[in-house]
Amino acid sequence: MEKAIQIENLSYSYPDGQQALKDINLSIEVGETVALVGPNGAGKSTLLLHLNGILRSDGTVTVLGVPLDNKSLKWVRSKVGLIFQDPEDQLFSPTVFDDVAFGPINMGCSQDEVRRRVSEALEGVGMEGYEKRSPHHLSIGEKKRIAIATILSMEPEILVIDEPTANLDPRAKGELIELLQQLPMTKIVASHDLEAVKALCQRTVILDEGQVVADDSTQSIMSNNPLLEGHGLAPRSGSSLKLKA
Ligand SMILES: Nc1ncnc2c1ncn2[C@@H]1O[C@H](COP(=O)(O)OP(=O)(O)O)[C@@H](O)[C@H]1O
Ligand SMILES: [Mg+2]
Repeated sequence: MEKAIQIENLSYSYPDGQQALKDINLSIEVGETVALVGPNGAGKSTLLLHLNGILRSDGTVTVLGVPLDNKSLKWVRSKVGLIFQDPEDQLFSPTVFDDVAFGPINMGCSQDEVRRRVSEALEGVGMEGYEKRSPHHLSIGEKKRIAIATILSMEPEILVIDEPTANLDPRAKGELIELLQQLPMTKIVASHDLEAVKALCQRTVILDEGQVVADDSTQSIMSNNPLLEGHGLAPRSGSSLKLKA
């Protein structure tokens, strides 16, 4: 099977000395949807930022067989689309059209091709007809969808999504999960929302304190309560939270 992403011996410390990743080894096949779960501060976002070279460090990241380096960076970024946790970080144009068109224009697509990609991306996230709206006046659920469209318009082969359901109400969350289920490409989803993970991902990797501590089928991980409790993913048995639930 072809590997979408291969990470070897990846360690990373932030400039202030905080070590966020410790010797990560992980490989993801083309077509897989893999969850990256773990408590706050586990290193999930830091790991995702390495997948399209926003952060670089010791160790290697290989995308579709090509090692990420200065020479391949642009190509890698055309293959790996990263959706940030906060859509505000991805939306900066006066109109939805401009935001979704930004990537394809940057890639040198013709005007017709840009228009085609924008309509397909908006259709893909169920936001047709929003072209002239201001992204900043949309609801959080709508902003999230437009942020996804800004990446889909670049037609990536691998979609990397940080905390897709954060801050969404139950209905918006359900709709977003359905939307992501329909996207056919390889997906890596960082989340501590286990409900979303169960709905989306066949495989789950647990990250804690910058290390991979488990990697198995989602079914097997979710049925292992001591494992989930041990890594802050379920309330400890006997805690008052659990009794109230
Ligand atoms: N810009 C930063 N500068 C310094 N430390 C950071 C920065 N961003 C994250 N960290 C630290 O790196 C670790 C991993 O953070 P992060 O990748 O955001 O975790 P997660 O996404 O799993 O919550 C944490 O200890 C966090 O405090
Ligand atoms: Mg994070």
